[in-house]
Amino acid sequence: MPEASAERVSGRRGGPRDADADEGREPNDRASTRMRGEPLLDHMELQIEAVRQRRTWGRLVSIVTRSLRLAWSADRGLFLVTAAIQLVAAALVAVQVLAVKWVLDALLGIQSGGSVSAAVGPVLLLAGTMAVSSVSSAVLPQLQRLQGEVVARRTRSDILRVASQVDLLAFETPSFYDRLQRVQLNAVTRPLSVCQGLVGLIGSIVGSVGLAVVIASIHPVLLPLLLLSGVPVQLASRRSSRLEFAFAVDQVPRLRLREYLMGVQVGRTEANEVRAYGIAEELHHRFDQVYGDYVDALRRHVRRKSLLSLVSSVVSSIVLAGTLIIVVWLVSVGKVGLAEAGAALVAVRLLAGQLTTIASSSQLVFESGLFLDDLDHFLALAVQPAAEDRVVVDGPFQTLRIEDVGFVYPGSRQPALSGVSLEIKQGDVVALVGENGSGKSTLAKVVAGLYPATSGRVVRDEVDLRDLDRASMLTQTAVIFQDFLRYQLPAGDNIALGRADEPATDERIMAAAATVGVDEALRRLPDGLATILSKSFVGGQELSLGQWQRVALARALYRDAPFVILDEPSASLDPRAEHELFVSLRSMLRGRTALYISHRMSTVREADRIVVLHEGRVVESGSHEELIELGGRYAELFRLQASAFIEPTRG
Ligand SMILES: Nc1ncnc2c1ncn2[C@@H]1O[C@H](COP(=O)(O)OP(=O)(O)O)[C@@H](O)[C@H]1O
Ligand SMILES: [Mg+2]
Repeated sequence: MPEASAERVSGRRGGPRDADADEGREPNDRASTRMRGEPLLDHMELQIEAVRQRRTWGRLVSIVTRSLRLAWSADRGLFLVTAAIQLVAAALVAVQVLAVKWVLDALLGIQSGGSVSAAVGPVLLLAGTMAVSSVSSAVLPQLQRLQGEVVARRTRSDILRVASQVDLLAFETPSFYDRLQRVQLNAVTRPLSVCQGLVGLIGSIVGSVGLAVVIASIHPVLLPLLLLSGVPVQLASRRSSRLEFAFAVDQVPRLRLREYLMGVQVGRTEANEVRAYGIAEELHHRFDQVYGDYVDALRRHVRRKSLLSLVSSVVSSIVLAGTLIIVVWLVSVGKVGLAEAGAALVAVRLLAGQLTTIASSSQLVFESGLFLDDLDHFLALAVQPAAEDRVVVDGPFQTLRIEDVGFVYPGSRQPALSGVSLEIKQGDVVALVGENGSGKSTLAKVVAGLYPATSGRVVRDEVDLRDLDRASMLTQTAVIFQDFLRYQLPAGDNIALGRADEPATDERIMAAAATVGVDEALRRLPDGLATILSKSFVGGQELSLGQWQRVALARALYRDAPFVILDEPSASLDPRAEHELFVSLRSMLRGRTALYISHRMSTVREADRIVVLHEGRVVESGSHEELIELGGRYAELFRLQASAFIEPTRG
């Protein structure tokens, strides 16, 4: 498919350019700028798959059963009613032709002196079938709209389930975002398309057989000609569905960039900087350009598809016209009567329509098959339920050992961690310090079990993290990320989500808030804990960054896990608050074990042990006094930060 690959290349050109991820960026943006070769591979595979797709019976059956099952389980009643209406409407087509013939017969009879009453039956029949088919075509779209939403709801929740379960590393690869977008945009509606296509297909086959019988009874020579007229449409539809899938796959990266550029311009958080730097116009320009590229591609796509259907329709029409000429000839030589000829004209017209429906319905079914496979592949990304032999964490936390751990981000050449070894015992407060990019946050995620170590292992209470039951392990750990989330939900929920599996009480929430000194601020909110923490909802309020950070801390404490990881929890606090936080940390932790990450040496001197990370390696480790004594990296950074009154930037 050469034209598809040419578009693919230009599609990539529309992608994000800057390959250097830096600290402040959104993680998803960062991920999409890395691993440049990888989405191409994904694309190529999909294209090849699309070309290879065979229209076999087995495949048809599997697509159809999958889709029917989904539509059926989403809403049985709706499914039955829609299918029944479609089938009845289809069956009425042949009846209509017969009615036309009987009406014409009766009319010719009246002309040659017969009784008018003979026409009443046929006329009523014709009127009745016409009424039923127009009612069904009025009702059907509404029912289908409803059915579409019911089925989409089902598919969407499957997609959400997978997106929230999938390995965290997936979010580091652009192809994951491409897939996610593709299934969200295209796959959601496909099961329904298959059902509609199928009913359309069955209906039009029923209709065509009826019409074929009627036509063959008028004159046998007409039938093969009519069937011939369906061939070009069938061929074209097949090519058309491949074009459609290829187009959808190609355009996803471009559409994602478009969505991103749109989001940056309308987002609340982004609004400040976009204004302050006066870059709205520049961003708008880029948005416009990407959108323009998409429209251009769509234009080419539409042109190609139109040309395809134009050619096939012209060929079909020529064959049809030939058939009509033959009807005229048959009448002129007296082989066919007038009423039959009239009915034949109607039948030819209707049959052409039915054949087109057969083509488009089968196209819809097979085309959807490509998207459904895509959806299946996506759904298969979900983590398998924990195997039986997984060790469930329940006893009290005792030790955590990091043994020679290395970690490489997907698509990176430089390891973010190498040969890191460390032991944390129950009740320890271990501080992890190091400059920006030294690997602190990465280590936090490996220790939390969110990233699997590329080499080495993390052992918790003598069990390898990989052998632990994931869910139970996560409930035993509380993490505050450097880029923690600010939920646009009520203030109370922002804390209670630390432990969503238990019913929340205001007392517990306020207790956690009080431990980190944010209780007063929450009490002052107009609706207290019920106040939504976002200005984008009515009655919502915004907190300061420092207050948000305390809320995140409260959430971690609310989780009540024996092991706590705090990644730069004080970065947004003022120096006094930061000092107070660390001093009160031990009482806050109440015997819990903590890994406390900071790039500010001054805050961690009271830790049981300080571990210095540099370029992904542990370079020093010991108490504050020992490390100062050592006179190495820690001592140097400590003096530097203590003497200089310049605040180092966030790490
Ligand atoms: N998502 C990512 N993909 C690839 N590389 C990353 C990613 N996040 C961080 N890195 C790289 O890994 C190294 C360690 O980063 P990080 O753990 O965030 O450092 P720190 O928290 O100490 O500032 C840095 O070189 C950084 O550029
Ligand atoms: Mg960090």
